[in-house]
Amino acid sequence: MRYRTLGRTGLKISEIGFGCGNNAVLMVRATYEDQLRAVQHALDLGINYFDTAFAYGLGKSEENLGRILSEIGASPVVSTKIRLEPEAASDLKATTVRAVEAALRRLQRKSVDLIQLHNRVTVERSPGKRFSVTPKDVLRQGGVLDGFKEMREKGKVGYFGFSGLGDPRALHELIDSGEFHSFQAYYNLLNPSAGEAVPQGFSALDYGRLIDRAAEKGMGIAVIRVLAAGALTSTPDAGGGSSPEPLSPGSDYALDLQRAEKVKFLIGGNIKSLTAAAIRFALMKREVSTVLVGFSNVFHIDEAVACSGAGGLSDEAMARLKKIWESDFGRLSA
Ligand SMILES: NC(=O)c1ccc[n+]([C@@H]2O[C@H](COP(=O)([O-])OP(=O)(O)OC[C@H]3O[C@@H](n4cnc5c(N)ncnc54)[C@H](OP(=O)(O)O)[C@@H]3O)[C@@H](O)[C@H]2O)c1
Repeated sequence: MRYRTLGRTGLKISEIGFGCGNNAVLMVRATYEDQLRAVQHALDLGINYFDTAFAYGLGKSEENLGRILSEIGASPVVSTKIRLEPEAASDLKATTVRAVEAALRRLQRKSVDLIQLHNRVTVERSPGKRFSVTPKDVLRQGGVLDGFKEMREKGKVGYFGFSGLGDPRALHELIDSGEFHSFQAYYNLLNPSAGEAVPQGFSALDYGRLIDRAAEKGMGIAVIRVLAAGALTSTPDAGGGSSPEPLSPGSDYALDLQRAEKVKFLIGGNIKSLTAAAIRFALMKREVSTVLVGFSNVFHIDEAVACSGAGGLSDEAMARLKKIWESDFGRLSA
């Protein structure tokens, strides 16, 4: 396993990270024995970065991960996320503090290495189920950031981050504030716009090279959805994401399956699967600190870990990919 530094935090983290999310339901719904086997296997292979959130099984993922790490006496880098509900708007700082305290209880830890805001960040607040917050909600006095800072002063939180989902303009604003240590970047072969230029009118959301901007600010970057929720695997029928709505606009699972057809040429030589091509592509971006993968079993862990140090895609393959992106996947013509 190779290790990279998480931005200016100085934390040395494995370039493959363990995603304890809702999509791969392992850390939410699998048996205790399967979870224990997977976590131990990942640690044995050198994975030292685990990403969870309250939203993953409404606390189950945090509880399961916390219990297992405590039982086996392991202390890898753990990141978790808080999701604020619309009621939080009346006192964002206090709600943030309470949410972090609750996460620590579930994780059975006195402190957590990295705390992240899970809500989407948008120019205007969006109410309801997908409650999103604005950069002002986060940055103003009495906002989310103040809550994170209070928890840091109390020694309960190491560093702060956010999910790079929502409105790219608002996400750029948070990055430019210089207040955050890391963010999670939606970045994969089917939507590389967080790290590569894409043409105007690209059918997936253009994140405007958020990764490069964040790296300039000394931030760490964790890639999410590297396998497009399963569309970039050999068993795409099994995937699809945990929500009927796409995580990122323009990246519906059905559409991603069609896009994935266009990048299958990457399989060949020492790249034995689309999964490996997708992970090795993300690892090529040196600004990336870790690539989180949603594992469903130990074989998935093995396949991802084998990508570390295996090398990137060839220049020829990258040139072909750039043409595919420039043509917006040939607008999906056959
Ligand atoms: N901040 C956020 O809002 C946010 C959003 C999304 C993700 N994340 C983080 O990023 C992590 C990864 O994201 P993700 O799970 O959503 O998406 P992903 O890694 O793109 O896809 C995971 C899915 O790919 C399949 N898979 C994984 N390894 C495989 C292999 N070797 N061969 C075949 N199939 C394989 C599994 O499908 P099956 O389960 O069907 O086998 C798994 O559910 C999450 O766990 C979470 O930590 C954060």
